[in-house]
Amino acid sequence: MDTFVINGGARLRGAVTISGAKNSALPIMAGALLADGASTIAGVPDLADVRAMAELLGDLGAAATRDGDGRMQISVADEGNSHACYDRVRKMRASICVLGPLLAKRGKARVAMPGGCAIGSRPIDLHLRGLRALGAEIELDGGDIVATAKKLTGAEIFLGGPFGSTVLGTANVMMAAVLAKGTTTIEAAACEPEIQDLAEYLNAMGAIVRGAGTPRVIIEGVDALRGAEHTVTPDRIEAGTFLIAAALTNGEVTLANVRLDHMLAVVDKLRQIGVTVEAGADGAVVSSARRLEPTDVTTQPYPGFPTDLQAQLMTLLCLADGNSALTEKIFPDRFMHVAELLRMGADIRKEGPTAIVTGVKRLVGAPVMASDLRASAALVLAGLVARGSTVVSRVYHIDRGYEHIEVKLRALGADIQRVSDE
Ligand code: EPZ
Repeated sequence: MDTFVINGGARLRGAVTISGAKNSALPIMAGALLADGASTIAGVPDLADVRAMAELLGDLGAAATRDGDGRMQISVADEGNSHACYDRVRKMRASICVLGPLLAKRGKARVAMPGGCAIGSRPIDLHLRGLRALGAEIELDGGDIVATAKKLTGAEIFLGGPFGSTVLGTANVMMAAVLAKGTTTIEAAACEPEIQDLAEYLNAMGAIVRGAGTPRVIIEGVDALRGAEHTVTPDRIEAGTFLIAAALTNGEVTLANVRLDHMLAVVDKLRQIGVTVEAGADGAVVSSARRLEPTDVTTQPYPGFPTDLQAQLMTLLCLADGNSALTEKIFPDRFMHVAELLRMGADIRKEGPTAIVTGVKRLVGAPVMASDLRASAALVLAGLVARGSTVVSRVYHIDRGYEHIEVKLRALGADIQRVSDE
C-alpha cells in the first residue's frame, strides 16, 4: 500500500490543469452500454475508479480502452452477461449506475446490492422506486438486485428523498427512460452538472432529454441509440481542492480547464473566508490573504456547497481566525477526517451532523490514515501547511478520484512524495 510523505510549508505557485470529472465519467461510461455502436469519450481521467468501471464493462461484454490522452473508446460486443457481481460493486459503489442501462437495453440486469461505506449509509431505494415506476420488476436474490422488464414505459417519477435528490438515482432513471416507450418526467431530479453532462452525452447518442440540470427532467423515449463522441466536464471537486490548497499555503495558482459557473457556492464561501478567486484569460486565478475569516457552511445538493468538499474546507477552516461550523446535510456521518485532523493539532468538536472548528495557529505533521476519498484529500491539504512531516497512509482511497494528485501538487512546488511498499 502506498503512502504520501509531505513536508509542509511550501507556497503553491504556478498552473495546474483540472481533469475531467470522475463523477461524470463513471455514469457516462455506463451509459455507453445503451448504444448500438462505439462511443469515444474524451477527458476521461486516469483513476482507479475509472479502471474499475472499465473492468466492469468488460464483464458486461463491452470493451473500454483509454489512450494516454484520456480518450476512451467503448463498444459493446456481447450482450450475454448482465451481472455486475458483488466483488465489483463492493469496490466501487458507482457500479450501481449500470442498472438502468442494462435494464433498458437488455431487458434484464443483475447487480449486487451495494453496502454502506466509510461515509455512512447509502441506500438505493430511490433508484429502485424510479425503475419500478417505469415498469421494471425488481426483486432481491442472494444479495443481488434482479430487475427485468419486457419494455419500459414512460412515467411521472418523484425522486426526492430525506436528504434531497439522488445523483446516481437520477442518472439511473434517466438512462432507463431514454429507451422507454413514451414520456418520462423526473421531478426533484438532481441538478448536479454531472447529470447535465450525462444528458448531453445521451442526446448526442440520439436520446431526447430536456431540462437536465433543473429539478424537472423530461425524457421522450426512442427506439435505439447510436455511439457518440463526448468530452467530460471538468472536475469541480478537484478544482475546489486545488483552490483550497492554494488558499491554505498563501499561494497563487492558475487553474486551467475549470468551470467556475459550476462552483458558485464554493467560490462564494472562499471569498467570505478571504480567498481571492478571479476568472482570468488562462483559467481561474486563486490567491489568499494571510488572515482567514471563520465561516459557517452547510452542505446541500447542487447548487449548494457540495458534500464532496466539506472535508477539504474543514482543513482550511482549521487555520481561520475564530470559530466555524460545518454542517453535513447529505451524509451526516461523513466526518472520518476529524479524528485524523485532531492528530495534527486541529481543534474540532463534533456535535451530531455539525463540526465546530476553532482555528489554531498551525497544524503539525503526524502519521495519519486516509479513510475515504475526500477525507484523504483533506489530510493531504493539511500536510501541505503542517509544520514538519506528514505521512498519509492508505492513499489508494485518493487514487480512486484524484488524477496524479502528487504530481500536480509537486509541479506547484509542494514537497510530496509517493512511497511504495514494494
Ligand atoms: C454521488 O453519490 C457522488 N458519487 C458522491 O461522490 C457524492 O458525495 C454524492 O453524489 C452527493 O453529491 C458519484 O457521482 C459516483 P446520492 P450518490 O444518491 O449518487 C440519500 C465522491 O467522493 N439517498 O445523491 O450515491 C443518500 O443516503 C462521492 O466522489 C437515499 O436516501 O449520492 C444521501 O443522503 C462520494 N436513497 C443523499 O440521498 C437513495 O436511493 C444523496 O445521495 C439514494 C440516495
